[in-house]
Amino acid sequence: MTETNVIDAKNLVREFNGKRVINRVSFGIKEGEIFGFLGPNGAGKTTTVRLLSGVLAPTEGSAWVMGYDVRSEPLEVRKVIGVLTETSSLYERLSAKENLAFFGHLYGLDGEMLNNRINELLQFFGLQEKSMDKVGTFSTGMKKRLSLARALFHDPPVLFLDEPTSGLDPEGARLIRNHINELSKEEKRTIFLCTHNLEEAKELCSRVAIIDNGKIIAIGSPEDLERDLWQKTEVEVNLDEANNEMLKFIRELEIVMNMRIDKEKIFIELGSQNDIPVLVEEIVHKGGRIFSVNQVSHSLEEIYFRIREEKK
Ligand SMILES: Nc1ncnc2c1ncn2[C@@H]1O[C@H](COP(=O)(O)OP(=O)(O)OP(=O)(O)O)[C@@H](O)[C@H]1O
Ligand SMILES: [Mg+2]
Repeated sequence: MTETNVIDAKNLVREFNGKRVINRVSFGIKEGEIFGFLGPNGAGKTTTVRLLSGVLAPTEGSAWVMGYDVRSEPLEVRKVIGVLTETSSLYERLSAKENLAFFGHLYGLDGEMLNNRINELLQFFGLQEKSMDKVGTFSTGMKKRLSLARALFHDPPVLFLDEPTSGLDPEGARLIRNHINELSKEEKRTIFLCTHNLEEAKELCSRVAIIDNGKIIAIGSPEDLERDLWQKTEVEVNLDEANNEMLKFIRELEIVMNMRIDKEKIFIELGSQNDIPVLVEEIVHKGGRIFSVNQVSHSLEEIYFRIREEKK
């Protein structure tokens, strides 16, 4: 592992019956980072989590978590990670408390220590009032919160969260996202987050990788990806009295690469950010009155589809 990376993957390959589903995947994740792993169904997200958590052996390549080799030291790896799997692995006939106690016993905790830890987690996830209820009676959101509590039981510095908000309503998803944020910002945990939800990735993640068909097709901060794909800059200009003469004047400026009008708003494409003050100057010089100029940013969704289109 490079000194600063908490999770490191180098040319990971996994095949099932000769079929390659993870194809030379590499990345490095730093301490305290929330790293988003985005991709369509069947892209290889869950398989990557299983490789990184030492559950599944790579066919080729290597990976390290906090310096432990997932291939040769899977038990060490498991001590430093918490995993929220895609499907709930809770016991429906046991209560929330019993589920956590069962898990705690596996970690050798007992008596007061065990009780304290359980109460702490139930409180953190707002489940204290339901602690004696059978998990079978829980809503999906409550189950996700309890699963997250379970993943955190041994206080691991690294978390793998496989679609933690799938199947939740907006309110339930918001609650989980707040918890994830808290676990990262206040507790400095490193989080590997698989998601389909592009807005979620943009909101939570400092960096994202996009995986498609077992291959990473883009990696970087949402802003980096945007910059790489849209070297051009688009601004929305709000003008007083945008008459035809003014519009023609703008369209014919040398720095203007494109102009479109959408619902009475003027969108202007420029070669670079440096052209924004030039544009403003030209319009003002021509006698135009500008109320506002806003740079248009693209959603992660647009970026995502554009990358997938380009790589086809
Ligand atoms: N145990 C297995 N045996 C055979 N094929 C498998 C196995 N596990 C995964 N695969 C295949 O590997 C590919 C990647 O699956 P994976 O579950 O990693 O995708 P994913 O990105 O998590 O998808 P989803 O968004 O649906 O959860 C799929 O084609 C899947 O069928
Ligand atoms: Mg999956």
